[in-house]
Amino acid sequence: MLASKRILLIIGGGIAAYKSLDLIRRLKERGAAVTTVLTRAAEEFVTPLSVSALAGEKCYRDLFDLTDEAEMGHIQLSRSADLVVVAPATADLMGKMTAGLANDLASTLLMATDTPVLCAPAMNVRMWDHPATQRNLAQLQADGVRFVGPNEGDMACGEYGPGRMSEPLEIVAAIEAQMADGPLQGKRILVTSGPTHEPIDPVRYIANRSSGAQGTAVARALAALGADVTFVTGPADVPPPEGVQVVRVKTAQQMSDAVDAALPVDVGVFAAAVADWRVVSASDRKLKKTQDGLPALEFSENPDILKRVSHMDHGRPMLVVGFAAETNDVLEHATAKRQRKGCDWIVANDVSPQTGIMGGTENAVLLISDAGTEEWPRMGKDAVAARLAQKIAEALSN
Ligand code: CTP
Repeated sequence: MLASKRILLIIGGGIAAYKSLDLIRRLKERGAAVTTVLTRAAEEFVTPLSVSALAGEKCYRDLFDLTDEAEMGHIQLSRSADLVVVAPATADLMGKMTAGLANDLASTLLMATDTPVLCAPAMNVRMWDHPATQRNLAQLQADGVRFVGPNEGDMACGEYGPGRMSEPLEIVAAIEAQMADGPLQGKRILVTSGPTHEPIDPVRYIANRSSGAQGTAVARALAALGADVTFVTGPADVPPPEGVQVVRVKTAQQMSDAVDAALPVDVGVFAAAVADWRVVSASDRKLKKTQDGLPALEFSENPDILKRVSHMDHGRPMLVVGFAAETNDVLEHATAKRQRKGCDWIVANDVSPQTGIMGGTENAVLLISDAGTEEWPRMGKDAVAARLAQKIAEALSN
């Protein structure tokens, strides 16, 4: 898929730069041409020689290199690529990109480019969590910059948490998704998925049996058709797909906030099994058994995300797709639910235990829309997702 594509790879100065050497190999294996730029700090971690040897091309380093300016000016360098990839994207580079600084070759190229940019952040967990970085992230996302990672795990600095750069193959998948020439190219699609967890106290929560499998498959299928997917997921059993923007949440309220942050989008697919209620005042201490009898939990209603988005006066997605998980009278309940929620389509299924659908690998759905009801045969969740993605692509092309 990357044959004859040109990637401009900007390597920032972080320990994760060693992974960028493997990234170059993986991209070359797939037929991409890779032009490399090293920041000064990056040269402390990997050498220009190893980078250019792997890329099979000159490695660019200095803004004021007159030979390069004569051969290929920085403007042309920034625009000759199909995609600019920043890996590792350090806190410093993200800060420069947000502020619009252009004081070295890497930051100047990022300012001068009219090509899509994909960042793979890598930094210490506290640096990642710092409000400045999170502000920069939100601004860059709003500016249209795409992100892959960071992952959570052990870090070179000995700490644990989000901040590890995505693995080279994850970055390749994100690049491929970004460059997919499918019918959803250029469309922004939001997918919610998985269950939500509503805390009772620090160790207990209310959840449901959703594995996140169907929502994950839908996000993957949409990305495979070229969509730019934001995937807002509760704590699911299955890992999120590659090549999408992953936003992890726990509660319904957090999911609702993450959905707002992802708007505007062309299409919203609401596959999450959102808890309808939350415990009014979740205890910040573990509830203990007492002689005074059983604890009484008071509930309040969670925001209905699908309903809210479906009824937006401004910025409503062109197409809003809901899911209805029912245990009886599926068509009747789902038809009423579509009316109540105000969504365009509803994908309904029977999740009573004997169907094995919830937590299983297959699904049998009804697709209900203004055009009527389609009954799809029982098939794998991936196949349901592929068919739904195809239908979405057709709907957008009409
Ligand atoms: N949904 C949502 N926010 C909620 C509840 C549900 O966005 N707070 C979305 C789900 O993602 C799904 C659709 O609404 O797309 C239907 O979810 P479901 O739980 O079946 O609907 P409920 O409104 O909870 O209806 P009921 O409990 O009556 O079955």
